[in-house]
Amino acid sequence: MADQHAQSGEDKRPTGIPVLRWEEPPEGPVLVLLDQTRLPAEEVELVCTDAPALVEAIRSLAVRGAPVLGIAGAYGVALAAVRGFDVDDAAAALAGARPTAVNLAVGVRRAQAAYRAALARGDDAERAAGAALAAARQLHREDAEASARMAEHGLALLEELLPGGGYRILTHCNTGALVSGGEGTAFGVALAAHRRGELRRLWVDETRPLLQGARLTAYEAARNDMAYTLLTDNAAGSLFAAGEVDAVLVGADRIAADGSVANKVGSYPLAVLARYHHVPFIVVAPVTTVDADTPDGASIEVEQRPGFEVTEITAPQVPVAGAGGGIPVAPLGTQAYNPAFDVTPPELVTAIVTEEGVVSPVTGEALAELCARSRQV
Ligand code: MRU
Repeated sequence: MADQHAQSGEDKRPTGIPVLRWEEPPEGPVLVLLDQTRLPAEEVELVCTDAPALVEAIRSLAVRGAPVLGIAGAYGVALAAVRGFDVDDAAAALAGARPTAVNLAVGVRRAQAAYRAALARGDDAERAAGAALAAARQLHREDAEASARMAEHGLALLEELLPGGGYRILTHCNTGALVSGGEGTAFGVALAAHRRGELRRLWVDETRPLLQGARLTAYEAARNDMAYTLLTDNAAGSLFAAGEVDAVLVGADRIAADGSVANKVGSYPLAVLARYHHVPFIVVAPVTTVDADTPDGASIEVEQRPGFEVTEITAPQVPVAGAGGGIPVAPLGTQAYNPAFDVTPPELVTAIVTEEGVVSPVTGEALAELCARSRQV
């Protein structure tokens, strides 16, 4: 079950965003999420008391973005275990809530494995639940550390590719603190450049249809006092043509073994534009986003979302009208094509920045080497 409450009182928060946390009130443990569907209009928290509530929060994008989906999935397994639900059922439902971001299944499996290992060594269910929770907490910490290291590597890469600083960076979707235990992936690099005084402008694609750029990246950029400008996705081409983009920075939901990158729909056209205009297209993602079991881009399952997200404006603050609860912007009955992600082939990716280092040029061999190195650490 999920419950909602608005944050109250004067806003004295630091720029870091409490995107999710584990709490243990007397009624029993809960996972508290910042409901991202309500941003930037309202900062409302969603309290999940069981795995089905978390599955719904993941499907509705109340919690979203690859790294934090992994963390949420791991806490979801712990929640099921601590509250005495069937852990394997909960794990299967959580891992299947969204298909493209591999981090979700990775996080779920990690907490599930910790739970099973504890039972196998003879621990009782309570101690095994504690092991699942410890695994979730560990993943949460590791992701914060990975964010910081990606920002360092990404900034060093920008300095190498674009000597002289004053970067004008174009980004797509949302890849900041809202998707991470730390300050994010691609956005984290832009933020590091901003703190170094090297960010001239962050160009923020609005990211139709669910406006993760307009609602969430602009929200994060404003909180961090960054110089940012919002554009419609369609305006990116003329921005490149005007010579206003020095680099594109995006995140990833799954990177196949050959280096193909699945990310928010609209990333691939940016990669094509970037190649035509000789601008680096840089992907920033933790090693957990690399999926050695997915051989190539064609094998990545791309989530298809309901058509009403395209045929209606579905922001929660607009009055209920259409079938999806939003304002219709197309004739009733219009069919929509609404893939949540697209796949960029490795040859269009200048570099993949991870916490373990940078892969460039992007090849399957170089990625495999990086993953092997990361497993040894
Ligand atoms: O559908 P969303 O909002 O979950 O999509 C998120 C993205 O596509 C992000 O770019 C991706 O998860 C990388 S976040 C580091």
